[in-house]
Amino acid sequence: MNIAVFASHGGSDLQAIIDGCKSGKVNSKVKLVISNNSNSMALQRAENEGILGYHISQKVIPDNGKLDNKILSILDENEIDMIFLAGYLKMLGTSVLQKYSNRIFNIHPALLPKYGGKGMYGMNVHKAVIEAREKISGVTIHRVNEKYDSGEIVAQAEVPVMPNDTPEELAARVLEREHSFLIEVVNDIISGNIKLGE
Ligand code: GRF
Repeated sequence: MNIAVFASHGGSDLQAIIDGCKSGKVNSKVKLVISNNSNSMALQRAENEGILGYHISQKVIPDNGKLDNKILSILDENEIDMIFLAGYLKMLGTSVLQKYSNRIFNIHPALLPKYGGKGMYGMNVHKAVIEAREKISGVTIHRVNEKYDSGEIVAQAEVPVMPNDTPEELAARVLEREHSFLIEVVNDIISGNIKLGE
């Protein structure tokens, strides 16, 4: 399977998928990385690994329709089977969502449907979980639609919240689980346990 990863910042989830493919734990290939941030560590990681990396943002392509078409043509040319949004802080255009419907997955650092939606990203999520005195948080992988964090949930993993956790400590624990969980979920997609759309 050919994987595309969209990422805006650090790209540690991207690296986990790349490493899973390289080590043979996952029988797939990360074919390309798309970022809306030219300075992202994610694009740097792609370069380090000899993977195609594209900076696509409105700074480069101001017209929304043309931007979506560019993304579509890159995905099509590279025969992409599945797309992971791994810390991609930009809404995908309708044409991309429609064409790759049920093949786009987002990784969210909490147990949706709680702690999701607009503005619920990065440390905001973990602060909200701690403020609500949750004892368990986790990772959610869900399909992507036109509303933030609301597509079908395909997999979840729990992560404990420790008494006195700071948001940063909880974030680190959740992120570590994301790295191993992503490998499990990609394998579930490959085996057909989690279905891809037509
Ligand atoms: C992760 O916390 C993920 O859940 C969220 O964005 C973060 C990405 O981290 N969607 P990284 O850039 O892969 O290190």
